[in-house]
Amino acid sequence: METISVGTLRAWLEEGHHVTVLDVRPTAEWAEWAIPGSIHIDAYDALKAHDPAALANLDVPSNGPVVTVCAAGKTSLIAASQLRARGVQALSLEGGMKAWSLAWNTAEVPVHASDVRIIQVRRTGKGCLSYLIGAGEEAMVIDAALDPQVYLDLARSHGWQITSVFDTHIHADHLSRSRQLAQMSGAMLFLPDQQRVSFPFTAMRDGDTLATPHVRLTAVRTPGHTPESTCYLLNNTILLTGDTLFPTSIGRPDLYADEQETRARSSSLYHSLHKLLALPSETLVLPGHASQPVPFDGESIGAWLAEIDEQVGLLHATRTMFVETLLQRLPPTPPNYERIVTLNEAGLVPEGDVAELEAGANRCAIS
Ligand SMILES: [Fe+2]
Repeated sequence: METISVGTLRAWLEEGHHVTVLDVRPTAEWAEWAIPGSIHIDAYDALKAHDPAALANLDVPSNGPVVTVCAAGKTSLIAASQLRARGVQALSLEGGMKAWSLAWNTAEVPVHASDVRIIQVRRTGKGCLSYLIGAGEEAMVIDAALDPQVYLDLARSHGWQITSVFDTHIHADHLSRSRQLAQMSGAMLFLPDQQRVSFPFTAMRDGDTLATPHVRLTAVRTPGHTPESTCYLLNNTILLTGDTLFPTSIGRPDLYADEQETRARSSSLYHSLHKLLALPSETLVLPGHASQPVPFDGESIGAWLAEIDEQVGLLHATRTMFVETLLQRLPPTPPNYERIVTLNEAGLVPEGDVAELEAGANRCAIS
């Protein structure tokens, strides 16, 4: 065996298998997004030149196999073969970081004294966070960002039937899988009220509530990141914020907008954030993205509203200062976001290489 698939490496990491992940990409690429726990050697040019001493300075850990990783799985083949020549059990990751974009792991959100269980499904290769919320025999999914089968299998393993599927907004950095998941599971599809998408859905307006015997999910309209952005308040204690509010940052307001529109959206975002800050400070915020590759540690990502209020200085700026600061701090736009938005508005997930389309780190936040 000379290569390893993303699925196998994902399972090894989730099971706590002893494995060393060796990233051989140029340093800047490794620094932007990597496999959690990976080690790095800047040997890219030497490996491409087939320099037999490319990895000579590497101290190979003796603990289990080494998985070599590059951008697309070619240079890592050279690295793995050089390591095998030294007697190391080395495997090259098939498809490299591009294929790793679809890797995921899970963590259960600790919810005390409740019949509800919340599984945070983390697309570690991209930073997207989605949620499977189950109680009794039913479950809902929020912001599905992975192959629908992942959610169907997870739900089945808990004895749940997925009966409702929600998105917090029209996403720009990844393809929403919510429409497909709703079709495959027979669930109802709920989206924020808007005229952007061209397929049928049930609209959630500000204050609309879906109630089951165990779960009450209420829409809190929070325009800013996008005009239709909506948070969902679960049982009055947990707030699913999409890309509006993160543990240490806030959502960017500029995608698909010129400067004037960005200013208007920043102003809306200011009001939306202050609407959220009026909720009880012990509200648990569960965001739609992580700013770093998500470790296979089973620890859910989230923060109390009080913690965020303390940590995110921008929340205490005046409205004018808030808008000006946002305009100065806009990060580069995500690759291919215009095409991704078009597909999400059409509800389509194209056949073939979606990892290519979705490539790159997520860039939804401003801190
Ligand atoms: Fe977003």
